Amino acid sequence: RLGDVSQEVSTGDLPEWNEVDALVEAAYRRYRSVGDGAVADYIPALAEADPERFGVCVVGTDGGVHSSGDTQIEFSIQSISKAFVYALACQELGHELVRERVGVNNSGAAFNSVIAIELNDGHPMNPMVNAGAIATTALVPGASADERWDAVLAGLSEFAGRQLELDDAVYRSESESNQRNRAIARLLASYGRVELDPDEVVDVYTKQCSLKVDARDLAIMGATLADGGINPLTGRRVVPPGVCRDTLAVLSATGLYERSGEWLFEIGLPAKSGVSGGIVSIAPGKCGIGVFSPLLDSAGNSIRGQLATAYLSRVLGLNIF
Ligand code: DON
Repeated sequence: RLGDVSQEVSTGDLPEWNEVDALVEAAYRRYRSVGDGAVADYIPALAEADPERFGVCVVGTDGGVHSSGDTQIEFSIQSISKAFVYALACQELGHELVRERVGVNNSGAAFNSVIAIELNDGHPMNPMVNAGAIATTALVPGASADERWDAVLAGLSEFAGRQLELDDAVYRSESESNQRNRAIARLLASYGRVELDPDEVVDVYTKQCSLKVDARDLAIMGATLADGGINPLTGRRVVPPGVCRDTLAVLSATGLYERSGEWLFEIGLPAKSGVSGGIVSIAPGKCGIGVFSPLLDSAGNSIRGQLATAYLSRVLGLNIF
């Protein structure tokens, strides 16, 4: 059950450094033996993930890094990339255009739903489900698919504060098994919602999902959104503050798919999950939390990751409500 410790009111600041370290360690110890859930296998390469892996990392907007467990084991970022590609697209194209083209409302359906598109006159609904993420990737400026990919790679690397690399095995595996995403892209193209070649757009989207990160990277990427767009480790501005605000609003409504309401109710933080077992959460002005554990619930969200984030939200007083 999420939220097995008492809820603190927001404190305004993170506790002292040592205390955060101890609480991150406590989150890891508390949930590391939870063995519920299953590793994703609809992308064949993901089925090889080690179910024992578990890492918890908090990065403050002051640049403090607090880690416990497997925080430097790499995994493919998967759907968590959607949040950061959305921020990059908003920065380039602006609030209104992205809102009109991609939407900001929860679809109430699974991340890879096709029927949600049909029920909404071909609208992808929001940038966190596959349809909206594919539509968002199609909006990234560039004269060719290669240029769009270069922009996505450079932008996500700025969020992480290091040069990210592709997991070739995951990229190949997903490319061979992503008929559903290709169908979604074609459906969107049939409604005029994707104006580029749908296969090329899905290829860039598949690459962005195959970037390797670790839990620490996720916490840094989250801390950058928490810090109004400045990466607290590199000190570089990645996106403007208004883009962070837009991104966090969309994550609050949609980041955990059809479980987003339950997540906000229990945890009270904008967040984004990925099917390889990562979750990034953002406490505005305070910190980013990155967690990794490949055992997932039926909506594709890491079980230990949700438990550890719920615990940290409560003991650190992070719930924004
Ligand atoms: O497109 C897909 O299905 C994957 N590349 C990403 C899905 C995902 O991470 C869903 N999240 N929980």
